[in-house]
Amino acid sequence: TTTAVGIVGGGPAGLMLSHLLARAGVPSVVVDARSREEIYATVRAGILEHRTVRSLVEDGVSDRVLREGYEHCGIELAFAGARHRIDFADLVGASAWLYPQTEVFKDLADARERDGGDVRFGVSDTRVVDLEGPNPGIRYRDAAGDEHEIRCAHLVGADGSRSTCRRQVPADAATQIGREYPFAWFGFLCDAPPSAEELVYSHSPHGFALVSQRTETVQRMYFQCDADEDPAAWDADRIWAEMDRRTRVNGLELRTGTIRDPAVLRFRSFVHTPLRHGRMLLAGDAAHTVPPTGAKGLNLALADVRRLAPALVRAVRDGDETGLAEYTERALERVWRAQHFSYWMTTMLHTGADGSEFDRRRQEAELRTLVASRAGRQFLAEGYTGWPADED
Ligand code: DHB
Repeated sequence: TTTAVGIVGGGPAGLMLSHLLARAGVPSVVVDARSREEIYATVRAGILEHRTVRSLVEDGVSDRVLREGYEHCGIELAFAGARHRIDFADLVGASAWLYPQTEVFKDLADARERDGGDVRFGVSDTRVVDLEGPNPGIRYRDAAGDEHEIRCAHLVGADGSRSTCRRQVPADAATQIGREYPFAWFGFLCDAPPSAEELVYSHSPHGFALVSQRTETVQRMYFQCDADEDPAAWDADRIWAEMDRRTRVNGLELRTGTIRDPAVLRFRSFVHTPLRHGRMLLAGDAAHTVPPTGAKGLNLALADVRRLAPALVRAVRDGDETGLAEYTERALERVWRAQHFSYWMTTMLHTGADGSEFDRRRQEAELRTLVASRAGRQFLAEGYTGWPADED
C-alpha cells in the first residue's frame, strides 16, 4: 500500500487525524495493534473541554456527545470540612462535558467507517522504517500472520504512552523532560446513583479522592494510593471505607454499589521534544503525558492533531512544510500550559508521601485562597474548561 500519511495508533488522536485529513482530501492509513473491541473496553477519563466537544460536532465526527454527554457548568473543591463550587458558567462563560473517552473513540471509529477510511485494527509486530528517507514505512503482520507494508510521504506516531514510534528516535535526536509522583490513583466504576451533581475533587488528611460520574446508574471514582498499590488487596468494603473517610469529612455522603474494573493508574508528567524526526511526527500520549487530575490527556491529544492536520495538508498538497516545521513549537506551547495545570491541580490536592504538617496546612491555605478569590476560581475555570484555540 502507498498513502500520503501513515498513522500508527487508532486511538482518538490517530483516528481524529485521519478524519481531519480525509475532510481535506488527503488519504491516510491507520494501524493499531489492539482490536476495536479491546480499545472500546478500556476504561479511560471522562471529561472533555468545550473546544473538544465543538470539534467533534463541527468537524463532522458526530453530535452524539450533545445528546448523550452531560454538560457540567462547574466542579466542586472539597477540603477542610466544606464543599466549594467553582462556577464555570459564571466565571468564564464555558463548560466541560462528561463523556467517556471510549465513547469519543467509538464516534471516531464509526465516522471513519462511515466515510470509508482505511483503519486496520488488530495488527501485530508493528515496525516503522526509513524515518529519515523520503518514503517512510509501516510494517506489520495481519491476523493470519502475513507481512504487510505501507509506504507514505509522512508518518505519524499516535500510538500512546508506550509508543513504538517514539522509541525509534535516536537518543541524541530528542530530549525527554518529565517527573514522577510518589502516588497513583485507584480507579473504579460502580453501579450506583450519582453522589453529587458535578465532579467533587476532595482533599483530606487521608489523601485525595475524586467523585466523578458516568450515567444515572454508573459512577466513576478514584482515590489517591501508593504508586505500587496492588488492586487485588482491595475488596469492596475496604474501597468504600477509604472513599468514605476522604469525602465524609468534607460533607459528602457517598451512594455505594457494586464495584467494577478496579485498577491502579500510574502518574507521570512527560514531554518528548521535538515532535518531528525526519518524516515522522508524534502526537498525543506518544509525545507527552500528564497526570490525570484535571483530565487533560485526551483534550491535549486532539489539540495536537487539530494543529497537525492542516500542516500535513499543506505539506501533501502544496509541498509547503512550514507548518510541519512549526508544529513542535506551536503544539508544545499548549502542552506545557497543560503540564503546568495538571501538575498544579495534582500537587494542590494530593497529600505528600511524608505527610508533612507544613505541606498539609500550606495546601489548605492555597485552597482557601483560591476559592475565596474570584480571580483564583477564574484561573482554575479557564484551565479546566480549556484555553481558547487562538492562545495555542
Ligand atoms: C475523570 C478523570 C479525571 O482525571 C478527572 O480529572 C475528572 C474526571 C473521569 O474519569 O471521570
